[in-house]
Amino acid sequence: MKIKKVTKAVFPVAGMGTRFLPATKSIPKEIMTLVDRPLIQYAIDEARAAGITEFIFVTSRGKSALEDYFDVAPELEASLRKSGKTALLEVLKASNMDSGAIAYVRQNRPMGLGHAVWCARRLIGDESFAVLLPDDVIAAEKPCLQQMVEAYAETGGNMVATMEVPREKAGAYGVLDIADDMGAIVRAKGMVEKPKAEDAPSNLAVIGRYILSPKVLNDLNTMKQGVGGEIQLTDAIAQQIHEEDNVYGYRFQGQRYDCGSKAGFLQATVAFGLARPEFQAEFGAYLHELVAQQKAAQ
Ligand code: G1P
Repeated sequence: MKIKKVTKAVFPVAGMGTRFLPATKSIPKEIMTLVDRPLIQYAIDEARAAGITEFIFVTSRGKSALEDYFDVAPELEASLRKSGKTALLEVLKASNMDSGAIAYVRQNRPMGLGHAVWCARRLIGDESFAVLLPDDVIAAEKPCLQQMVEAYAETGGNMVATMEVPREKAGAYGVLDIADDMGAIVRAKGMVEKPKAEDAPSNLAVIGRYILSPKVLNDLNTMKQGVGGEIQLTDAIAQQIHEEDNVYGYRFQGQRYDCGSKAGFLQATVAFGLARPEFQAEFGAYLHELVAQQKAAQ
């Protein structure tokens, strides 16, 4: 099967980030940092590694800091150059995006993830595209979307990242109904958004990386409100199963952090901090000491 390369990715970043108030009163959630890099930078780097060249941000009011973040910062660059801080200059330059590589569309009303993706329909056109939810940060040797692009080259259709979760937590996710379990790749016969634990068709949850056929956009055109009164991306993908395309789940290799929750964000901060060679010794020793102190106090 000859499958066209996926070059466009949608980043839904319109959410108000209320779980992180008061911080998100003035900064978009996606700018919050894991060690020293904003959440969105992790998603962009993952997309780039997978061959994405066109980046579509679905934003909303109050997200201008996000747009500025990807602009060149000429004064800052000049100042670093002048003071010979070349390492920092390289760090800064790595966050620059080519002119025209990023497009922004607005979601005027918070009507759900499916609606956010639908807002990008004109920029996506008639091509398969990726969707990355920046809240889901995935630490992996081979970036998650790259793993998926490779698998998708074999399967075509639609593909969602997936991982096993405890059944009682299934209600926080889109959940796959499995037709065929082939190991890393699973073919779905259904998908349910945030089912009750007892109704969940499996414990295989959808994680925020998708490769979708443009036909999903047609389904989003007619999609009614789903769970939570929102237009759900899961429902539009599930509809593909009944129409014409296969939907696959891909069990990625890597560790996913739910940076949409405070506990997940803290875990990611510790893990990414420890993974940095310059902090390993000092930060690692500090954590050991902290745990020892806590144990002694119990
Ligand atoms: C969204 C999707 C859900 C998916 C989850 C992964 O939900 O709607 O299907 O499992 O992301 O993080 P949200 O977490 O935005 O409520």
